[in-house]
Amino acid sequence: MPATIPSPSPQAGLIALKALLRERSLLAPLQRMNLELGDIFQIQLPNFTPIFMVGPEAAHFVLVDQRGELRWRNENDPVTHLLRHGVLVEDGDEHDRLRHLLNPSLHKQMLVEYITDMWCYTQQVTAQWKEGVVVDILDEMRKIALLVLMRTLYQLDFSPQLRRMWDVVIDNIKYVSPGLWMLWSDLPRHQYNRAIHKMDRYLYQIIQERRKRMTADPLPPRDMLGQLIASGMEDGLIRDQLLTMLIAGHDTVTALMAWTLYLLSVHPDILKQAQDEVDNTLYPGEIPSLEQINQLVYLNQVIKESLRLFPPIHLGSRISATDLEFKGYHIPANRRVVYSIYLTQRHPAYWPEPDRFDPDRHAPGTRPAPYTWLPFGGGPRNCIGAAFGQMEARVVVANVLLHFDLHLVNAHVKPHMGATLEPHGARMRIERRSDYFI
Ligand code: HEM
Repeated sequence: MPATIPSPSPQAGLIALKALLRERSLLAPLQRMNLELGDIFQIQLPNFTPIFMVGPEAAHFVLVDQRGELRWRNENDPVTHLLRHGVLVEDGDEHDRLRHLLNPSLHKQMLVEYITDMWCYTQQVTAQWKEGVVVDILDEMRKIALLVLMRTLYQLDFSPQLRRMWDVVIDNIKYVSPGLWMLWSDLPRHQYNRAIHKMDRYLYQIIQERRKRMTADPLPPRDMLGQLIASGMEDGLIRDQLLTMLIAGHDTVTALMAWTLYLLSVHPDILKQAQDEVDNTLYPGEIPSLEQINQLVYLNQVIKESLRLFPPIHLGSRISATDLEFKGYHIPANRRVVYSIYLTQRHPAYWPEPDRFDPDRHAPGTRPAPYTWLPFGGGPRNCIGAAFGQMEARVVVANVLLHFDLHLVNAHVKPHMGATLEPHGARMRIERRSDYFI
């Protein structure tokens, strides 16, 4: 007879919900529940009883063993409403078909071509930073990440649209962030309609313009938008992939780069080591080569450790299609099952002193046990942009460290659960280190 999954008292469940709605973070209550109840537990809320699974075995169960029975697509979920038939919310053969079409422009071999755009857009955004001003580092990293994504994957310079489309992008992200809709899925959310329509108009327009340009250009396209058009896909389905990539591909990297700069700003010794490496490897007036970026070994460790402590996607969510069993526990059909990346990556059984920021955990020659470091998920649905995201973080953070000293002016930086886990309040004062700009 399978056992019932343990749950905290209803009161603890409500405290967790309040924490989410008020502070936009469930991390502390979840960590407590994990400690008290073990690596599988459920939270019982009105209309919503998600099952949380923690640790490498749980991750393997969700991502590999039961991949077919734990589905992504959920018709009641805003992510599905927004992304419609984007690769992220499709399952089975259609998922695999889309993923195959999207892969080429995110392939590792393409990254060398993207370094210049990553570097130059960082220059463009940071050129606006005046000596001594205070910036919100999350906003600044978002500007860079949006510009890079639009240029590399859609061959577009988004600079003229950045200001006009900023709120539209933010509202589209808010639409898919956790909220009361999790309890009342039919909750009206008209406040987002305008932003979603505006985003749609923009995306259909860029598809149309690109179609026109492509009729005059006989060369096979190398970017994602061009390749989707060349594949014969119709506009609606292209729109779904573009919006999926726009959100999944910029919001995550934004959070990663902001967390990394925040963590460096509160760990001066680690900052010095990373900055020394950058100073000894790159030159202020030159776009770095792939070889130079690959020489930034310590910075890479810093980024991996940042991904461990603050994984931008802190959980993976699925719906059980049938009854399942995990380690003697019964998982009923049609339940939300969540594997927690955050709790796994801070689990004391796999990570000694789990809350300590220590890039040496990722020194060359070391390797975390399988499925204990999984910021990009795992199995056949792992992150399609993992290599792209890590390359972008290395190039952008290296550029910032080479040219600036950043001083945190707000001690109360908080993890905020939006569509990604992001640092809120990371305001930094800018001090320029060098006058060389391209
Ligand atoms: C630091 C950067 C990033 C992080 C931490 C990250 C994290 C993740 C994670 C954890 C998943 C799996 C989610 C699950 O199992 O439910 C995922 C999937 C995905 N990511 Fe990323 N991601 C990053 C960057 C990117 C970029 C740059 C792109 C695109 C340009 C991208 C596009 C996607 C897509 C389309 C999927 C769904 C893949 C599928 O279902 O086959 N991500 N990402």
